[in-house]
Amino acid sequence: MSETPTDYTGPERILSGMQPTGGLHLGNYLGALKWWVALQNSGAECFYCVVDLHAITVAGDPARLPGRVRSAAAAYMAAGVDPSKSAIFAQSAVPAHAELAWIFQCVARLGWLERMTQFKDKAGKDAERASVGLFTYPVLQAADILVYKATHVPVGEDQKQHLELSRDIAARFNRDFGNGDAVFPLPEPVIQDHGARIMSLKDGAAKMSKSDPSDNSRINLDDDADTIARKIKKAKTDPEPLPESEAELNSRPEARNLVGIYAALTGTSVEAVLDEFAGQGFGAFKPKLADAAVEFIAPISGEYARLIADRAEIDRVLRLGAERANAAAEPVIAEAKRLVGYWRG
Ligand code: TYM
Repeated sequence: MSETPTDYTGPERILSGMQPTGGLHLGNYLGALKWWVALQNSGAECFYCVVDLHAITVAGDPARLPGRVRSAAAAYMAAGVDPSKSAIFAQSAVPAHAELAWIFQCVARLGWLERMTQFKDKAGKDAERASVGLFTYPVLQAADILVYKATHVPVGEDQKQHLELSRDIAARFNRDFGNGDAVFPLPEPVIQDHGARIMSLKDGAAKMSKSDPSDNSRINLDDDADTIARKIKKAKTDPEPLPESEAELNSRPEARNLVGIYAALTGTSVEAVLDEFAGQGFGAFKPKLADAAVEFIAPISGEYARLIADRAEIDRVLRLGAERANAAAEPVIAEAKRLVGYWRG
């Protein structure tokens, strides 16, 4: 068996994406979007897509999907992604994603996909009825990344396993088709310690998620001040005051989550938050957390409201982004097709 070439020498590139499943929440922002914005000033080229191909792996209303794509694009911009620096686009507007996904479906092994925990979570007990697309979802995600030869992928903790799969696919393609070259880089996840795993306000053991039926479980980026204050007031806690050390939070998932959110919102460490609040109960801490969340989200939700009202401008940004993304993806998909031996006439 030949060695797997991994010594990729191309330029640094950033890619990430989000599902257009309704509004975005604080977990999306603190786990990913915040870092997208930081990275767009790193000098690397950035590609941020709205993954509408992934969206149809589960049933949804087709008539509402284009609006959801616009809404996600507006949220990216409201959070600070600058369309003059980063390409913002819909995945479906760049056909090379789907073309490379097919090639990668023939590279990835069934056993690799069977290990994916997100499929098990999403498909639930009735996996036989899940779409085949939901099963191969992470292969399309690998194509999203590698069709730009992206080297870095800013995501929350829950995407770690999918990123490992992307690396396995890149390595296997390089080995099987690379003729000794590292055609694809092995993409690095960019996962920050704080904010990478924001939990539900109603259950410290469950991730804050768009698919949770209770809106009180999450803070949305377009929630108004009263809604945010009400959700935090209702958030699940325990009767103990806040402890002095971070280790004491380990057995208190709800307390740990709220302290972590406060630290992420105010740009401090968990230790610093505990220095300030140790010995105080949630009656004192929650109003402070609500103030911090309102102050943090108000400019984002204000900007979102302004942007979403101008549909023509969002479409212009998405078209421009798709042009840039297509231009970057075309040589890569052409190379992949040539290497696997497709007919070229
Ligand atoms: P999605 O749409 O579920 O989430 C978008 C991003 O938000 C992060 N995130 C969180 N971070 C911290 N705490 C949370 N509670 C939380 N919930 C969500 C996610 O980790 C993610 O970074 N499969 C991806 C979309 C995707 C993608 C890609 C990502 C498709 N192709 C290529 C990166 C690269 C997903 O469903 O994310």
